[in-house]
Amino acid sequence: MTPKPTAEDRFSFGLWTIGYSGIDTFGNPTRAPMDVVHVLEKLAEIGAYGLSFHDDDLFAFGSSDSQRQGQINRLNQALADTGLIVPMVTTNLFSAPVFKDGGFTSNDRSVRRFAIRKVLRQLELGVELGAKTFVMWGGREGAEYDSAKNVRAALERYREAVDFLADYVLSQGWDIRFAIEPKPNEPRGDILLPTVGHALAFISSLEHPEMVGVNPEVGHEQMAGLNYAAGVAQALYHDKLFHIDLNGQRSIKYDQDLVFGHGDLHNAFALVDLLENGGPNGGSTYDGPRHFDYKPSRTEDASGVWDSAVANMSNYLMLKQRARAFRADPEVQSALIAAKVFEIEEPTLSPGDTVDSLKSDRSLWEDFDSQAFFDGKGFGFVRLQQLATEHLLGAR
Ligand code: GCO
Ligand code: MN
Ligand code: MN
Repeated sequence: MTPKPTAEDRFSFGLWTIGYSGIDTFGNPTRAPMDVVHVLEKLAEIGAYGLSFHDDDLFAFGSSDSQRQGQINRLNQALADTGLIVPMVTTNLFSAPVFKDGGFTSNDRSVRRFAIRKVLRQLELGVELGAKTFVMWGGREGAEYDSAKNVRAALERYREAVDFLADYVLSQGWDIRFAIEPKPNEPRGDILLPTVGHALAFISSLEHPEMVGVNPEVGHEQMAGLNYAAGVAQALYHDKLFHIDLNGQRSIKYDQDLVFGHGDLHNAFALVDLLENGGPNGGSTYDGPRHFDYKPSRTEDASGVWDSAVANMSNYLMLKQRARAFRADPEVQSALIAAKVFEIEEPTLSPGDTVDSLKSDRSLWEDFDSQAFFDGKGFGFVRLQQLATEHLLGAR
């Protein structure tokens, strides 16, 4: 039986995800535009709790104030009718021609100032709607040609914009934080802040680093050949996992935005285990939305769209069940002990250790049998991974 999601599972979707028309660089849309009221009704029906959106998803770029307000009113009514919430909002600084060289980091200063104004409008709307996270995905912040962009100056402009916005939020006393979403490339040849690690380093250079975290996306880290669950673990280590974009990707290629679990399933298992059971004594490490940023396949009609939305949530919940069973299995527990997985939690140095005490301790060097690691002291990691695989495949 596939588990049924409820609001407690905190599943949210971007309006641009289920609303994706199937358009791509090579072909026309396969599906008609989807109205926000219909989206909210369907999301409520399938057990999601939240909707996120870019300004331009709700009201087209260049809308008049009254068109914009009309759409906000319809959204508010549908939220009230369905009980769904808006946990996150974000600004589109990438679709319109004006942003083809970026928003915060366009070489054109007037574009940068326009971008900040556009973000301010969406930030204020987000606060009005009760959103707790404002995502910044800088898909156009970058370049194709090295001589076209002064990367150090561009990072300085990025910092200037984020500092300015964080300052505004603090001065208003609003309960909203920023989450930077890294991506290595696409649409730009190279995007600034390409991975979780780059974003974390950038955040530490900010005036209010406490106001800014990351929004790592499965496919984006995997496009860079990186281990997504490990990147999320590092974000958690620095207390910077402010939001998460779940989807599926199969190796280093264009951003596939597949259903969560339809890419690297082992890594998806590790991720869910980390989010749900990864605390020091077990328990959840992240209590924010489980947000899906995927694209229903271009081959599908409306029923395929909703099948894929449900699939994201079912896969997450099935992995959660599998991860729980994995942790509860005594054989797994003894394999973890044998593999010394818990021993890494022990500090390497003992209280009072000094360079001199280490140098005079013969057991650390003169009497330490490093040769014993040849042909006789394996860690048993493969056994552990096979136990995980057996749980993942439902064989245990
Ligand atoms: C992408 C990104 C976007 C962002 C979105 C929210 O590759 O297109 O993942 O979908 O997540 O713009 O800021
Ligand atoms: Mn993406
Ligand atoms: Mn994303």
